[in-house]
Amino acid sequence: MAIDIGGYSIKLVRLAESAKGYELLDMGMISLPPDSMVEGEIENPEAIEETLKNLLKMEQLKSKNAVMGISGQSVIIKKISVPRMAEKDLEEMIKEEAEQYLPFDIEEVNLDFEIVSPEVSAEAAEEQEAPEEPEEEEEEPQMDVLIVAARKETIQVFQDVAEAAGLRLRVLDLDVFALENIFELNYELQPGAVGLVNIGATLTNMNIVENGVTAFSRDIPVGGNTISEEIQTRLSVGFSEAESLKLGIMFDDFTKEDVVKPIQAGIELICLELRKTIDLYEKTSEHKVSKLYLCGGTCLMSGIDRFIADKVETETEFLKTFRNIKINTKKFDPEYLEKMEAVMAITIGLAIRKKDDKQVS
Ligand SMILES: Nc1ncnc2c1ncn2[C@@H]1O[C@H](COP(=O)(O)OP(=O)(O)OP(=O)(O)O)[C@@H](O)[C@H]1O
Ligand SMILES: [Mg+2]
Repeated sequence: MAIDIGGYSIKLVRLAESAKGYELLDMGMISLPPDSMVEGEIENPEAIEETLKNLLKMEQLKSKNAVMGISGQSVIIKKISVPRMAEKDLEEMIKEEAEQYLPFDIEEVNLDFEIVSPEVSAEAAEEQEAPEEPEEEEEEPQMDVLIVAARKETIQVFQDVAEAAGLRLRVLDLDVFALENIFELNYELQPGAVGLVNIGATLTNMNIVENGVTAFSRDIPVGGNTISEEIQTRLSVGFSEAESLKLGIMFDDFTKEDVVKPIQAGIELICLELRKTIDLYEKTSEHKVSKLYLCGGTCLMSGIDRFIADKVETETEFLKTFRNIKINTKKFDPEYLEKMEAVMAITIGLAIRKKDDKQVS
């Protein structure tokens, strides 16, 4: 089963895989006390353990094996160019290479890597190492490698939480790779670059994929809370009152009119960050980001797709998480599914991870 611990809620999904594809077996969600998880960091493990136990009890699952996802400051993904070589040689080299790109000590992180272009076989690499007549002017052929590093300390906290809830943490993947998975499952391979954007409560995960592969990613500390905080300060209410107003639950003399401007201001802050990320990527890329695929709880806000398209000046579409997943509508209410499509994108993406996927533990 896949478990996605977020700033707002914990989500759980179990899929069955067969030759025909994936089928949804279980799906559940439970709210977390505020500040239990902030920007991808577990701040209150006890609260998360308790809540996770409750969710597992509600879902009555027998399996103990879990896949979880991480994001935020503890994870670094970096695409680098290295001379073409076989994977086994690369493994030795990557540790030294990675060191200069990491803000952490190399001993503090778990490292993984993946060759993302163009792959070379061991034989071909050996041939390359001993060319008959080395030509002086010719540039050494390069390949792109995605280096993934995650802090061991953070990984340990996830492991502890899983264990305390009676689970075995089999895989800890990255949220941005879950986005890549869900996109690959549901969309045809597209030339050029598109952005996958998960707008949660405290964090927005953004993955720019080129020809279906991660090219650039950022976890940005903005989300639904940014919108609630705008309401909070502009209307001088508490955070939970602001959260209610955002969801259209009015109280005192507040009207829906009152919250329009603060909501727009909050989304604009998110848009600024999306634009910045696109600009950063485009500065060093031959591609332009042609479209943003949106998901995450904040995307339940009606009209947010058009608002973002307008502000970021990039076409948008809501990510169709369930498009290629078989779902029994007798078991799952279509109306509920419609809501969960945005919320469960990361969780489903974690559940469909493949055997040779990159992972950090
Ligand atoms: N109908 C709605 N309209 C507007 N916002 C909503 C709606 N439903 C949920 N949200 C907001 O979506 C956010 C939660 O989204 P999500 O479940 O994706 O976050 P999370 O995964 O728990 O948090 P994070 O990824 O930031 O750690 C909250 O800010 C919540 O207020
Ligand atoms: Mg999330």
